[in-house]
Amino acid sequence: MTDPASDTENRTDYWKNRSPGWTEAASAAKPSDDTFNLRLIEEVGITSDMDVLDIASGTGDPAITIAGRLETGSVTACDMTPEMLTVAATRATKLSIYNLRITAGNMIALPFADSRFDVVTSRNGLMFPDDKVGCAREALRVLKPGGRAGWMVWGPIEANPTFLAVNAGLEKYFGEKFPPRLIRHNLGAPGLLTDVITQAGFARAEEVDLKQERLVKHGDDYFRRAVARTAPHRIGNLSETEWSALLNDVQNACADCRDGDIYRIPIVARLGIGSAAP
Ligand SMILES: C[S@@+](CC[C@H](N)C(=O)[O-])C[C@H]1O[C@@H](n2cnc3c(N)ncnc32)[C@H](O)[C@@H]1O
Repeated sequence: MTDPASDTENRTDYWKNRSPGWTEAASAAKPSDDTFNLRLIEEVGITSDMDVLDIASGTGDPAITIAGRLETGSVTACDMTPEMLTVAATRATKLSIYNLRITAGNMIALPFADSRFDVVTSRNGLMFPDDKVGCAREALRVLKPGGRAGWMVWGPIEANPTFLAVNAGLEKYFGEKFPPRLIRHNLGAPGLLTDVITQAGFARAEEVDLKQERLVKHGDDYFRRAVARTAPHRIGNLSETEWSALLNDVQNACADCRDGDIYRIPIVARLGIGSAAP
């Protein structure tokens, strides 16, 4: 397995270079699976009039799900990669969602005034910066007194074996190694999010286990999106025939999860919630 320290995913050009793969993966405007986004909304206590900041929003998750459920409130989607945010804005327009704004910015120095938002959310972003406590402190700074922040992160890689299976399928098709991206799982063990949130100065920290078995039909575009996100640099010139052979290898590599015409994909994540002092 790759040493997490050798990962480069916190470099500013890393995500810019991956944007085409995420654009392919986000081509449908609606989120492909909203289960955890809805849990986040519930656990953090987002109500329809709130102003929400979604950090590391990328191509718009969970920002778009949240914006779609607000009435008078709004969502600001912030990410250091403007190319990703452009996709988020396009998705929102396609869904007739008009209360979503986009702002480019780094989570270690957020481009917002103190005490500006009721809630801060973030899905699968806090794993990447080195100074996670500093980023959580920034979230606390932009929260109103009594506000809440919720960070969703991937659980351990062993609990999410489909990542390894997709990589094995890519390896079979392309004949080269696709090392697991361990940085993605570096906040997955119980207690790590609580430590970050507490050290950042939140008055209260909690953690929630998020687990689901996602049911994916054989041939579903789930696998195509997984490939696009994992190997964006390899898919640019593939014909549909080549895609079909690649997806065949990937689905075969996921055979352990197959149950007839369905794949039962285990997905384990964690949600860390920080409450600011009133
Ligand atoms: C795995 S993607 C998650 C995107 C989205 N939240 C989702 O769940 O689909 C990670 C995102 O974090 C962003 N990111 C990484 N480091 C960042 C930083 N220091 N500040 C702001 N955004 C960052 C990347 O640009 C990328 O869009």
